[in-house]
Amino acid sequence: MKTRREFCLRSCQAATLAIFGSSLATILEGCGSDNPMDSSGGNIARIQASIVNGTITLTIDANSPLAAVGSAALVQASNSSFLVARTAPDTFTALTAICTHQACTITGYNNQIYTCPCHGSQFNTNGRVVRGPATNALRTFQTQFASNQLIITV
Ligand code: FES
Repeated sequence: MKTRREFCLRSCQAATLAIFGSSLATILEGCGSDNPMDSSGGNIARIQASIVNGTITLTIDANSPLAAVGSAALVQASNSSFLVARTAPDTFTALTAICTHQACTITGYNNQIYTCPCHGSQFNTNGRVVRGPATNALRTFQTQFASNQLIITV
């Protein structure tokens, strides 16, 4: 037969375990991909490129991940990463891919919205924050498009 004291002790232990378990799950959940150098994962298409004289030149043909209006790609060039979106047949936007919250590389894209894998900040294709925790917009870079060549000035 359990005494009242034993019952209270066991109840307290069970409650402690439940609280600790829940807190641990929350802590682990927040540990995701906090490595700012980690650009793996995410669903965005990748393009490898080079920076030459302060510009990146991309050929946009039918095979390019940027062939369709509404598409976007993560352009990786000379240890820098850029988010490039085709917003109209002749219009592109280029942004830094480094999140303004804690510097993770942004690798998610869906429906004109970029999502950071670390804490879920979202940005539109002009770089504006549409969901925090980030509060600052992504830096933008000038783009020019002609004869299937996209030039990004970085
Ligand atoms: S680094 Fe925290 S949301 Fe991007």
